[in-house]
Amino acid sequence: MIQDKSLTSKNLYSIVVSKEEDILTARKKARETAKVMGFNPIDQSRIVTIISELARNIYKYAGDGKIIMEVIKDNLNKGLSIQAIDNGPGIADVQLALEQGYSTSGSLGAGLPAVRRMVDEFSIETEVGKGSHIKLVKWI
Ligand SMILES: Nc1ncnc2c1ncn2[C@@H]1O[C@H](COP(=O)(O)OP(=O)(O)OP(=O)(O)O)[C@@H](O)[C@H]1O
Ligand SMILES: [Mg+2]
Repeated sequence: MIQDKSLTSKNLYSIVVSKEEDILTARKKARETAKVMGFNPIDQSRIVTIISELARNIYKYAGDGKIIMEVIKDNLNKGLSIQAIDNGPGIADVQLALEQGYSTSGSLGAGLPAVRRMVDEFSIETEVGKGSHIKLVKWI
């Protein structure tokens, strides 16, 4: 990911997720950031959903972690980089976790597949017993 060196820390937001209400805080920050950046209303909603799903997964499966949002630029575009980081149990089978309908909690299993569909770049680094690091980018 190419970052503009002129960007300062005001372009980076880190939100700790350890309580259920932190999901709401993350959603609000996502809405505000997406709007200020100039994403259209549909993409603003997508970004809120993405952050919401990632924060909820952290809260539910890892207990705590953080969401990092960063405004990034390459030569042509501006975008939002989103990372979800936790030191939770990790994901044993990432391919499976990305399948629609797969859930280890009896939920819909729709979160990660939806997140992947809504972004331009998506990767998961995870290790059982160590945690998960989900990185994605959505360009304007
Ligand atoms: N941060 C995480 N740490 C550990 N496991 C995770 C994490 N995020 C997701 N998973 C695993 O991946 C599975 C799929 O996640 P996904 O968000 O797609 O579905 P879900 O959370 O089960 O259901 P839904 O999001 O639809 O309510 C989860 O059931 C869980 O086993
Ligand atoms: Mg989920």
